[in-house]
Amino acid sequence: MGKALEGIRILDMTHVQSGPTCTQILAWFGADVIKIERPGVGDPTRGQLRDIPDVDSLYFTMLNANKRSVTLNPKTEAGNKIFAKLIAECDVMVENFAPGAIDRMGFPWEKIQEINPRMIYASVKGFGPGPYANCKVYENVAQCTGGAASTTGEIDRVPMVTGAQIGDTGTGIHLVAGILAALLHREKSGRGQRVECAMQDAVLNLCRVKLRDQQRLAHGPLTEYPQYPNGEFGDAVPRAGNASGGGHPGWIVKCKGWETDPDSYIYMITQVASFPALAKVIGHEDWLDDPDWNTPEARVPKLDLVFAEIEKWTMTKDKMEIMDILNPLSVPCGPILSMKELANEESLRQTGTVVEVDHPERGKYLTVGNPIKLSDSPSDVQRSPLLGEHTEEVLKTIVGLDDKEIAAARQQGAI
Ligand SMILES: CC(C)(COP(=O)(O)OP(=O)(O)OC[C@H]1O[C@@H](n2cnc3c(N)ncnc32)[C@H](O)[C@@H]1OP(=O)(O)O)[C@@H](O)C(=O)NCCC(=O)NCCS
Repeated sequence: MGKALEGIRILDMTHVQSGPTCTQILAWFGADVIKIERPGVGDPTRGQLRDIPDVDSLYFTMLNANKRSVTLNPKTEAGNKIFAKLIAECDVMVENFAPGAIDRMGFPWEKIQEINPRMIYASVKGFGPGPYANCKVYENVAQCTGGAASTTGEIDRVPMVTGAQIGDTGTGIHLVAGILAALLHREKSGRGQRVECAMQDAVLNLCRVKLRDQQRLAHGPLTEYPQYPNGEFGDAVPRAGNASGGGHPGWIVKCKGWETDPDSYIYMITQVASFPALAKVIGHEDWLDDPDWNTPEARVPKLDLVFAEIEKWTMTKDKMEIMDILNPLSVPCGPILSMKELANEESLRQTGTVVEVDHPERGKYLTVGNPIKLSDSPSDVQRSPLLGEHTEEVLKTIVGLDDKEIAAARQQGAI
């Protein structure tokens, strides 16, 4: 069975997280991803947050599976020539340096097109064109400037960033979509094109329901927010704690053992269709005939009481027991799963979403495999490459250098 992107070659100039997540997905789909790294240094994440001395960090190994690593400095004379040849031989180039870095290496878009008119050139930047176009951006900067932080957190407390890497990985996934569209378009046009994704834009796209709410505010209070009807709304979308944000109210409630286990909680949704079953199971069959409780409209002003009653019941059971009771009743709920629980979750191991990989220097480690499942193109996860592990191989087979030329490039510090 062939891989979906077999035959597609990616010139991977990415570093840190946003770009590497994009090229890692392309590699899982079967593209040949050649990661270019600075000689002797490599992607800065190789050395960041190390858990084992002198061994590539988990930060690096979990973002660079299935890739080949080539050390190359395009700013040297020999490196410049090798880089130009790689541009000629690849289908897609992906980068996420600060604005202008690839131009300063001597490869503006016009030159790349001249070398290879079929090249798709994909970039992540912090911001799109405008006043902040030249700013450097990391994950939390994007979360703050894309609308996530202002709408996340407890009511009337400080803005909050989320642990989900929506700025970096979120943008990387958006970039994948752009690259695949450009590859498909190239089939018709015969030409490559630029694909650009700004982290601010990607975060805002992920926060689009909050921009929806901003416009609804002009027409009255947001009735699904906990501020309704007893609190105040300002002129911008407020933080809403753990409210569901959808059409059915939801909240996080305590489960048995919450006093000692920080993850002994469950998210409960009071979906209209399954509310009768939920009311019965928590011992509130009385609500079903009572007009003060038996419609969503009646419950909205006292959702705090609804969830307090639900919590009285959930506090008597552990979170997985609650799942077992409520799922057959079609009551939507979700236990708060810790990373420890997810790492050990058998069903995630079975689907290849959590994978154990062997690395020559660090030994076995866990990573998250491809969350996008293709029926005819399953992904296998291979360990990340050592720095420069594939330099000679790529220079010989793709660039066409011989041993002497490779030695000369090495002497120049080009590789
Ligand atoms: C992430 C970011 C803030 C990191 O900033 P940084 O560590 O200062 O790195 P920069 O991107 O500015 O620059 C890298 C430098 O290394 C150089 N470099 C990179 N690879 C090289 C190589 N193989 N050989 C020689 N030089 C290399 C670049 O040419 C550049 O030098 P220059 O500024 O003198 O032209 C920045 O890259 C950025 O804003 N990227 C876009 C947004 C983004 O993706 N952010 C999320 C990252 S997870």
